[in-house]
Amino acid sequence: MKKLIIANWKMNPQTLKEAQTILKTISNESKKYKNAHVVMCPPYPYLFLAKNTKLKKGMLGAQNISHELSGAYTGQVSSDILKSIGVDYVIIGHSENRSSGDTNILVNQKIILALKSKLLPILCVGELIRDSHGGYLTFIKNQVTICLASVPKAQMKNIVIAYEPLWAIGAHAVREATHEEFTEVKIFIRKIISDMYGPVIAHMIPVLYGGSVHPENTREFIIEGGADGLLVGRDSLNPKKFDAILAAAH
Ligand code: PGA
Repeated sequence: MKKLIIANWKMNPQTLKEAQTILKTISNESKKYKNAHVVMCPPYPYLFLAKNTKLKKGMLGAQNISHELSGAYTGQVSSDILKSIGVDYVIIGHSENRSSGDTNILVNQKIILALKSKLLPILCVGELIRDSHGGYLTFIKNQVTICLASVPKAQMKNIVIAYEPLWAIGAHAVREATHEEFTEVKIFIRKIISDMYGPVIAHMIPVLYGGSVHPENTREFIIEGGADGLLVGRDSLNPKKFDAILAAAH
C-alpha cells in the first residue's frame, strides 16, 4: 500500500506567493515518488490554489471543519463547502484544535459530517504525557472509541488514524518518540478497532505517525515502526526537507 504523507501547514505561510511556490514545488517533486501519496493541507484561503497548481485528485486536504453542517457560525467552514471546492481529506481532532475546545464528542460530530460530505477524515489521537503505568493507553482508547462512535462499519474504509503523542510535537517537544513507542500504540489502536469493527477493518485502516517528523527519522517510523504514513508539520513547509521525507518514505 502507498504511504500516505500528510502535509499539515497549520497557519503558514503568511503570503499567497509563498504558498503558491511551496505547493507547486511539492506537487512537482511528489510525482517522482510512486509509493507515496501526498495530501497537502494548507490554510483554507490557499485551498483554491490547488486548481491553479493542477494538483492531482486526492491530494488536497483541509485542517479542520465545523461540527455543524450550515448556518450562523461565523468564521467556520463546513464539510459540504470543502467538498464543493474539491477537497478530499480533512484533519479532525488535531491536538491544537483539541486544546482550543474540540472534545471527543465534537470530534465525533465532525467525523460523521465529514463522511456524510464524502470527505476522508484523518482522525488525530494522542496522549499529553506518557506515564509509566499505561494510563496513556486508556486515554487513547477513550479518544478512539468516542471519536468513532456511530461510524457505520461500511464507512470505516474511509477513515485514517494519525497517532500524535503531544509530548513529541512541535517546537516545545520534550523528546522525540521512538518507533517502538509508535508500534505499541499502532497495535493497540488496531486492537480497539478490532473490538469495535472486527479484525478485517482493524488491519485495513491506515495508522500514521505524526509529531516532529523530519528526514532523519522518516525511515525509522516507516520501516521499523511500520507506519502506513506520516503527518508532517513544520517540515512540510520546507520543500527540500519534505522532498527528503518523501524520498525516505518511498
Ligand atoms: P510537527 O507537527 O511536525 O511540526 O511536530 C506535527 C503536527 O502537529 O501535526
